[in-house]
Amino acid sequence: MTRRVRVGILGGGGILGAHAAGFRAHTDKAEVVAVAEPRPEQVEWIQQLFGDEVRVEADYHDLLAEDDIDAVDILLPHNLHALATIAAAGAGKPVLVEKPMARNIHECDQMIEACDRAGVSLTVCHDRRYDSEWMALKQVVDSGALGDIFWWKLDHNQNVVFGPGSWARTRDGIGGGAIMSCLTHQIDALRWYGGEVESVTCMTKTIPARMEGEFAGVVTAKMKSGALAHLSINWWTKSHQGKNALWYEMAQVCGTRGEAYFTLGKGTFVRLHEQQEVPWTYEQKDDGGFTRVKIGDWRGHVGCIGEWLKSLRGEECNITTDGRAARGTVEVAEAAYLAEEMGQVVKLPIEPREWGCQI
Ligand SMILES: NC(=O)c1ccc[n+]([C@@H]2O[C@H](COP(=O)([O-])OP(=O)(O)OC[C@H]3O[C@@H](n4cnc5c(N)ncnc54)[C@H](O)[C@@H]3O)[C@@H](O)[C@H]2O)c1
Repeated sequence: MTRRVRVGILGGGGILGAHAAGFRAHTDKAEVVAVAEPRPEQVEWIQQLFGDEVRVEADYHDLLAEDDIDAVDILLPHNLHALATIAAAGAGKPVLVEKPMARNIHECDQMIEACDRAGVSLTVCHDRRYDSEWMALKQVVDSGALGDIFWWKLDHNQNVVFGPGSWARTRDGIGGGAIMSCLTHQIDALRWYGGEVESVTCMTKTIPARMEGEFAGVVTAKMKSGALAHLSINWWTKSHQGKNALWYEMAQVCGTRGEAYFTLGKGTFVRLHEQQEVPWTYEQKDDGGFTRVKIGDWRGHVGCIGEWLKSLRGEECNITTDGRAARGTVEVAEAAYLAEEMGQVVKLPIEPREWGCQI
């Protein structure tokens, strides 16, 4: 495809701003021609983002039926990811869908099957994999400079409060709770950095007045590599805001020859136990402490949307989050829920179960 990709977006809520920035950075490759969003109060903002000429439609099925839409970007509540992807595939449109891919692997399988049958691509917007600072840690890990990696720790801190009636307050809407919704960022990064997960345990904290599903959770994992991983999410903390704040997201990795960490907004830092040749450039001189590694200044949505558009245009691209790859992240989160329900360590793979089925 040599002309610009004509994109339709499904869902005009909070994350639309990050996607709009992604499309604005790639106006040579794409134009957003329509947004499906049923809430009239969103229309003005959508037009501010994309211009007055963008069509805003209440029903996404109308958008999917239109011939001037080449591909769709799905930013809907989690319980609609599978339904909308299957409908888009039926209409012959390639799909980019926000994380998490779906509420469970049963839905992921239906999405993969529908896109395969229609011959359209399915890409999941796990934006961290396309962000320069997260990519810098990947470069360090892949270099082998840290030696044998035995330790992973990733966490996510936010103060998330959903209003009454929000889809995300319900287990059915969000696909469980904070683990499926947002710890999937950390699970996905862990798999990308450290390979596949062998087994998990999980504990969660729920206070129904705040939301139906868990607002906090801890997942421990044994990696196929033998390394240990500790992932946690806390949706009731302001630890990342204001004076003397800690961090929003952090990833720490320790190996036999060195260690590295990433904190959102502060960067990616490495400390090696002894001097060695390394394939990256330090931002300052390596003085034996933790030293910053930098590879670029782009944010994840800009990177992911850029790669997706290149893939649609048949250009060389680096997509690491197609439907099959992203299914594995949903599987770890679903296995964690199973582990807590059963009070046991759960080994992967797990069997797909329809949404709402009890064990
Ligand atoms: N990558 C990130 O860091 C990040 C951050 C926030 C949200 N997200 C993801 O983005 C997606 C959307 O989240 P959000 O925060 O924008 O939620 P939101 O509730 O702010 O927006 C969802 C929008 O979808 C609309 N909608 C609901 N049903 C619809 C339908 N049938 N047709 C068309 N539109 C419909 C709603 O009116 C709402 O405006 C989720 O998958 C979420 O996990 C990702």
